[in-house]
Amino acid sequence: MKTGGRVTNWVANGLSRDVVAGVVVPGRWQGVDLAIWRSATGVLRAWKDRCPHRGMRLSHGFVRGEGLSCIYHGWTYGTDGRCRSIPAHPDLVPPAAIRAEALDCAEADGVIWVAGAGEAGPLPAVTGLVPLRSLALHALPGQIAAALPGLRLFPGGLRGVVVLGGIQTSLCLLLQELARGQTMIHALCGPQDDPVAVSRGLEDLRRSIEQGVAA
Ligand code: FES
Repeated sequence: MKTGGRVTNWVANGLSRDVVAGVVVPGRWQGVDLAIWRSATGVLRAWKDRCPHRGMRLSHGFVRGEGLSCIYHGWTYGTDGRCRSIPAHPDLVPPAAIRAEALDCAEADGVIWVAGAGEAGPLPAVTGLVPLRSLALHALPGQIAAALPGLRLFPGGLRGVVVLGGIQTSLCLLLQELARGQTMIHALCGPQDDPVAVSRGLEDLRRSIEQGVAA
């Protein structure tokens, strides 16, 4: 994502509180579908959403302790990505080459970030803000930015002080491009802001942007 003249490979893929231990959710990074999951002890991983066996989406699977199991034939992958068990061959030690393909992932300030393996620079800073909510829009990141000239671009999204939901808020919108012309916004606001008012304001904003895109 190129924002504000700088390039960052980190793309926000959710709020930390929405991916609790034992959960797997879909994600997306630069057109690549992902499975983002957190083990029972809290280890967070972002993998390509494709089982090495026959390509089933790993985001359709389920977390078992420190592993992610594919829903199709039950192959289970440990947090290092390596296949640990194959139910049809319980006595087989899976070859080390069978492994899920990992991207880099990190958490900071309540946000989950994903980048290409080994490509990431410093994480975009959103310190001092409070994670609010995520919501999907039928609009591209550039259309969202164009509709919000009061916010400035920074690596990861848009931020600035705006009036939303009837109050002035320090708003940060982290943009994650999805498939089919949609964008997920991961919103943060100032610690003193009214989260209910800002959240309602975001829904109004979504309606307004989507109407503008459809017009
Ligand atoms: S496709 Fe995943 S275990 Fe077979």
